[in-house]
Amino acid sequence: MLLNSALILLGCAVRHASASEVYNTFDGDGFPACNAVAKVYRPSTVDEMVTIVKNASAQGIPVRASGNAHMWFDTMCSDNPNTIIVKTDAVNGISDLQMDGNTGSVVVEAGVTFPQVAQWLQDRGAALGFTLVNWNITLGGAIAMGAHRSSLREDSQVSAAALAMDIINGKGELVHLEKSANNDTWLAATTSLGLLGIIARVKISVLADYKVWANQTTLDEEDVLNGDMFAQMSPYVTANYWWWPSVKKFHMRTYGVLPVNASGNAFQSTFSVTPVEGALALALLNGGQNSSTANFFSADTFYALWSAPNFHETVLNLPLISWPVVGHAYDVLIGGLYPNELPEWDYDLHGHTLELAVPIQQGPALLRRVRELFDQSAADGQAVTSTYRSGINIKLGKPFDSFLGQTTERVGNVTADWSKGAMMFDFPSFVPTTGDRHRFNEAWYTTLATTLINEFPVRPHWTKNTRTIFGQAVKNLDQDSLRRFAAVRAQFDPDKTFRSVVGEIIGVV
Ligand SMILES: Cc1cc2nc3c(=O)[nH]c(=O)nc-3n(C[C@H](O)[C@H](O)[C@H](O)COP(=O)(O)OP(=O)(O)OC[C@H]3O[C@@H](n4cnc5c(N)ncnc54)[C@H](O)[C@@H]3O)c2cc1C
Ligand SMILES: *[C@@H]1O[C@H](CO)[C@@H](O)[C@H](O)[C@H]1NC(C)=O
Ligand SMILES: *[C@@H]1O[C@H](CO)[C@@H](O)[C@H](O)[C@H]1NC(C)=O
Ligand SMILES: *[C@@H]1O[C@H](CO)[C@@H](O)[C@H](O)[C@H]1NC(C)=O
Ligand SMILES: *[C@@H]1O[C@H](CO)[C@@H](O)[C@H](O)[C@H]1NC(C)=O
Ligand SMILES: *[C@@H]1O[C@H](CO)[C@@H](O)[C@H](O)[C@H]1NC(C)=O
Ligand SMILES: *[C@@H]1O[C@H](CO)[C@@H](O)[C@H](O)[C@H]1NC(C)=O
Ligand SMILES: *[C@@H]1O[C@H](CO)[C@@H](O)[C@H](O)[C@H]1NC(C)=O
Repeated sequence: MLLNSALILLGCAVRHASASEVYNTFDGDGFPACNAVAKVYRPSTVDEMVTIVKNASAQGIPVRASGNAHMWFDTMCSDNPNTIIVKTDAVNGISDLQMDGNTGSVVVEAGVTFPQVAQWLQDRGAALGFTLVNWNITLGGAIAMGAHRSSLREDSQVSAAALAMDIINGKGELVHLEKSANNDTWLAATTSLGLLGIIARVKISVLADYKVWANQTTLDEEDVLNGDMFAQMSPYVTANYWWWPSVKKFHMRTYGVLPVNASGNAFQSTFSVTPVEGALALALLNGGQNSSTANFFSADTFYALWSAPNFHETVLNLPLISWPVVGHAYDVLIGGLYPNELPEWDYDLHGHTLELAVPIQQGPALLRRVRELFDQSAADGQAVTSTYRSGINIKLGKPFDSFLGQTTERVGNVTADWSKGAMMFDFPSFVPTTGDRHRFNEAWYTTLATTLINEFPVRPHWTKNTRTIFGQAVKNLDQDSLRRFAAVRAQFDPDKTFRSVVGEIIGVV
């Protein structure tokens, strides 16, 4: 048994042990998730993951799990270069689908991605609910970090779909947890930040397969900035806005459920880019590094492009040109790449982002404050606008009780009413490949983050913010939730094998 384990570990070590290396995000070189790690393992079973953790923790070696590194900043690990990464993408079994009428459950392993499980379910007449993320992200990674889609009506944090979990704790033991309301262990496990251990398996709730319509309306900026966001968005199973500040417009995207026999074969892709588009966008956006005018030009161009549906028809593979569109739940809510196209980052189109949640009632006020800051940048002769291909994404979240969730109603010193849900301000921006890679008016982005954190009770998304932003936002988090989370963490991982800089900054390890 020991010899076997040793051989497995030797076999799956991807890199040599002695030299430390950078572990990058999906954006590749220049975008570290961990600045220095000793080794990246790529096991293919839960048992192998258990063996790796046992061996590492016995030697005091820090461990972090990683799915597809679909995160933005150097916040995955702690700063200990002895850290090893357990890359989970090959631990991707799906089993035990059980349906009872319109609802059911399925068991997935850590490294299963959303497209993978959605396809598997669709082949068997089932589908994910609205607790999903529309890209190649693992279920383990999404559940660990509190990732979410966008809905005020339905649960939309991925971990809200979890019914049970197996977590490999700091001793390398597999701990089984069942969903249980008001239980501190469950409240910690549903946004664990990877600090309880490696999420190895999750049982999630699913639905019978269905179709979805997607529709898009264009609104004037003032209709959202001075509107009733809850009334506008709460009727829909999924809904979000894209803000186009250069033209003072919003795209309002809404989704609804249709029977599985409805006609339509639409397939969505937010990230699919042709080689020609990729090269043009890179030239256009790099041109904006020192030129506000160039940024406004590209923003207006992207706005015009995104007024049409980013959907194709799957049978003839032709673009759909008018709203609404109809297709399978998987094709419309997750989708993927079109043939012969790649995601933007494969054309050197890289981004930074910032994501902060506020109570939904304060959403319009937060956006008005951002508008003031945009106007201020123009008054200062350094006008900033959105430089991302799909605009600024405004998402929504129904309350979900988890100690570290962005939409929990738990409040501490900074009180606020989160009972109607949250608005997430998700502001991606292009990072030039030229010069020192600064963005146009880089200082403005710092002012934006600091202003919002100081003036609103915002909570950070756990993979879309810098270390500095986490540090600034700690004051908005509920101290009681942090204390109780830390107590559960200490039971699972007393020796802090799974520590991360995020956990250190918020004071839970
Ligand atoms: C194109 C794109 C679109 C996105 N869209 C959304 C969105 O709509 N909504 C949203 O909320 N987020 C979104 N995200 C963020 C994404 O959901 C999270 O960053 C998610 O954690 C990434 O999952 P991953 O499997 O790639 O994990 P990684 O990026 O590899 O890891 C993320 C973190 O989770 C930990 N981790 C990973 N796997 C496990 C595990 N099995 N057990 C314990 N800890 C683990 C890692 O140590 C790390 O700290 C998006 C990201 C990208 C790149
Ligand atoms: C245990 O971990 C050490 C350090 O990462 C590694 O060198 C060794 O090969 C591992 N031992 C086994 C039995 O896997
Ligand atoms: C998605 O991720 C898996 C690994 O989890 C990988 O095998 C696959 O190629 C990826 N698909 C795309 C479209 O990037
Ligand atoms: C909470 O859940 C854990 C893990 O499932 C269990 O061990 C514990 O007994 C539960 N606590 C209470 C108070 O029910
Ligand atoms: C789609 O939006 C348009 C307005 O842009 C509206 O007239 C139409 O009724 C909507 N369709 C659906 C199915 O919601
Ligand atoms: C879908 O099926 C239902 C019954 O199962 C039927 O009433 C309806 O007419 C069908 N719709 C279409 C578009 O085929
Ligand atoms: C919260 O308020 C209490 C009492 O006023 C104070 O002692 C504590 O320092 C505050 N905590 C934070 C994190 O601000
Ligand atoms: C912008 O200016 C910086 C510093 O002057 C320079 O290094 C960089 O190459 C310029 N970018 C472009 C696209 O010209």
